[in-house]
Amino acid sequence: MKKESNFVPEGTGGTARGPVMTRRGFGLAMAASAMLPRAAFAEGQGAEHGKLIATAFNRRLLPPEYPETPVWGYNGQTPGTELRLTQGARLRQTLRNDLDQPTTIHWHGLRIDNAMDGVPGMTQPAVQPGQEFVYDFTVPDAGTYWYHAHNRSTEQIARGLLGALIVEEPNAPDIDREEVLVIDDWLVGRDGALVADFEAPHARAHGGRIGNLITTNGDFDLTMKARRNERMRLRLINASNARVFDFALQGLEGWVMALDGMPLADTPAVGEALTLGPGQRADLFVDVTAEVGEQAYLVRLDRDQASSQVMFEVGGVASAKRREAPAALPPNRKPALEGLKDLKARPLVLEGGAMGGLQNAILDGNRRSFEELIKANQFWSFNGIVGQTDTPFLDVKMGETQLVEIRNDTSFPHAMHLHGMHFQELDKDGTPGRLRDTTLLFPREVRQIAFVADNPGDWLFHCHMLSHAASGMTSWIRVQA
Ligand code: C2O
Ligand code: CU
Repeated sequence: MKKESNFVPEGTGGTARGPVMTRRGFGLAMAASAMLPRAAFAEGQGAEHGKLIATAFNRRLLPPEYPETPVWGYNGQTPGTELRLTQGARLRQTLRNDLDQPTTIHWHGLRIDNAMDGVPGMTQPAVQPGQEFVYDFTVPDAGTYWYHAHNRSTEQIARGLLGALIVEEPNAPDIDREEVLVIDDWLVGRDGALVADFEAPHARAHGGRIGNLITTNGDFDLTMKARRNERMRLRLINASNARVFDFALQGLEGWVMALDGMPLADTPAVGEALTLGPGQRADLFVDVTAEVGEQAYLVRLDRDQASSQVMFEVGGVASAKRREAPAALPPNRKPALEGLKDLKARPLVLEGGAMGGLQNAILDGNRRSFEELIKANQFWSFNGIVGQTDTPFLDVKMGETQLVEIRNDTSFPHAMHLHGMHFQELDKDGTPGRLRDTTLLFPREVRQIAFVADNPGDWLFHCHMLSHAASGMTSWIRVQA
């Protein structure tokens, strides 16, 4: 059987190949489903003490006619070992660094102690080659999270240092099965090697490092079996360096149950397009509505093209009838915003990049023209300041409600991620909406976010387009104990 991939080799003019949706479905061959090994955890105290060994190894990413790809990962896998535990359980993992450069692990979206946040030079020293560091904390919230390297992130995440972290609800929801779908893209050459120019000025100044091979759990044409009327929970994680994904369903009907780990009260239907920026996650419940013998798809939309992100071969029937629409998942803790109406929003203005019109900004304490910034391979500013300085964007007292207005005055989307706390996106009329840890702003978009500064420590606030974070879009906030 013919196997097609979405791989677009460099220098082919960027014409996308691969499975394209037609009215009759996708012309995709079948492949074995990729099951990820899981780390087992006991509940509560006696949790297993696991090891995450960061190493380099080869992995097949491209179709068989190309060589394997040298990647980095945890325990010889990318995505790394899936960590799965129950809400309230203790996570203990020793990171051992068998790479030839320092690394750390950040637990993206977890509202945990600052000392466990994994930011080198801020919450811990980087773990040197040959050294170890023990991460030890209790997971406060149920939901879909992920872990990833947080040193030289553009390179280390692009090379594969990331994995899923699943926190189960104490009472399992009524579903037939679940699938964790780590969606990533890779910038790879015909020789199988990752394009090693991780500081490429063009990517920094534009949309970031965008890959030419899109995978799910490392597989470019992930195919699974499913049964008619089966209810699946799909845990989608956008682990790419910079790509914004739009997803849709075919032969499936579903609901958005949670975003960035946090359950939604209203569980909207999955509509025309579900957008996930880098770092963002979505939990969907989907029912298989395709007939036996047909295929169902998690569809990836890319301009006017629709492709299979995951194909489900429908064989057999799970039940004669569909279930009722699901009830919302139990909420995680939502801190009460106090006095929002009377707060003046603190502006955070995003500027710079190609076609951005930034004239000058402060770099290392000195005002620089945009030409000088380009020479320094720096392209972006927050409130006129390039990169992380000694002064936090916010310096606030524990328990205070914060209101921030983010304004994207650039020509590119940005995914602003706050460590340590979730915030609420405000609707246009100022009503606090969904809890997120990463908010995606398209060019010229303005969004207010509000949160209670209830986790003491120094927390990064940065763009999750990792090339942007490395070229100006990193700041931090201090929550005084
Ligand atoms: Cu997922 Cu500071 O990042
Ligand atoms: Cu950005």
